[in-house]
Amino acid sequence: MARILGGITTSHIPAVGHAIANELFEDPYWKPFFAGYPPIHEWLAKHKPDVVINIYNDHGLGLFLDKMPTFAIGAALEYQNADEGWGLKQLPPFKGDAPLSWHIIEGMVEDEFDICSCQELPVDHGFTVPMQLFWPGLNENPNMPRAIPISANTVQHPIPTLKRALDFGKSLRKAVLSWPEDVKVVVLGTGGLSHQLDGERAGFINKDFDTYCMDKIVSEPEELTKISRKELVRQAGAQGTEFLMWMMMRGALGEKVNLVNKNYHLPISNTGAGTMLMECMDEEMVQAAE
Ligand code: DHB
Ligand code: FE
Repeated sequence: MARILGGITTSHIPAVGHAIANELFEDPYWKPFFAGYPPIHEWLAKHKPDVVINIYNDHGLGLFLDKMPTFAIGAALEYQNADEGWGLKQLPPFKGDAPLSWHIIEGMVEDEFDICSCQELPVDHGFTVPMQLFWPGLNENPNMPRAIPISANTVQHPIPTLKRALDFGKSLRKAVLSWPEDVKVVVLGTGGLSHQLDGERAGFINKDFDTYCMDKIVSEPEELTKISRKELVRQAGAQGTEFLMWMMMRGALGEKVNLVNKNYHLPISNTGAGTMLMECMDEEMVQAAE
């Protein structure tokens, strides 16, 4: 039986890709940001997930405004990266897990989620920067898992509600746990936290709101579903809607989680950068903890 070990969040800012390429880990600007990752590397080295479900929002590389699926799931043997114009070096392809992808798509459509299945999906910085952060060296890293990309629309309104995002994660969890193979899965939620890249409020960051979201998402994610999409844009900025990815990830972890690690630093580029690691607590662990 497949198991979900936990969930990890991170911002996916392209400038981080440059910082990694230039090894700026000790640079005073970058150090407090990169400080959030060693505990996650240790956890990943200990638990060695076989599959990573990377929930991100495509920004226009794989999906575009002409046809914008609300929820898209990759169902390919591999995923190519390509130049998006940020000046980042193109990365080698990421290995997929098409059979598990199709099982998830089957299960979620049965569960009445309308999924766009993607047998070809170029992956952008929303997917690749977190992969580099969590598995340095990528394919050279012996712990590099197979990847399943899931993208939700945060670009073209109407975007999904926070409740729909959380429910998506719950349905994703059901589908994964019904996979008969013995695989260990970790789920990523990438993007956010607050940022706005354009318009009158360009540069807007809201530390109080980020702190509130990082706090509530651990034990009271349902509380966050009361926030309307308009309010989310108001509080988090136009691109802060990427918090939806965090909610999708959180839904996939089940009711109780154990917060293992948390880091917040601002600004990184234009963004409040948050990193969290939450471990799933299965029935026996919950009983032991109570
Ligand atoms: C930035 C943040 C993002 O989430 C993104 O997709 C692109 C740029 C930034 O802060 O620069
Ligand atoms: Fe983004």
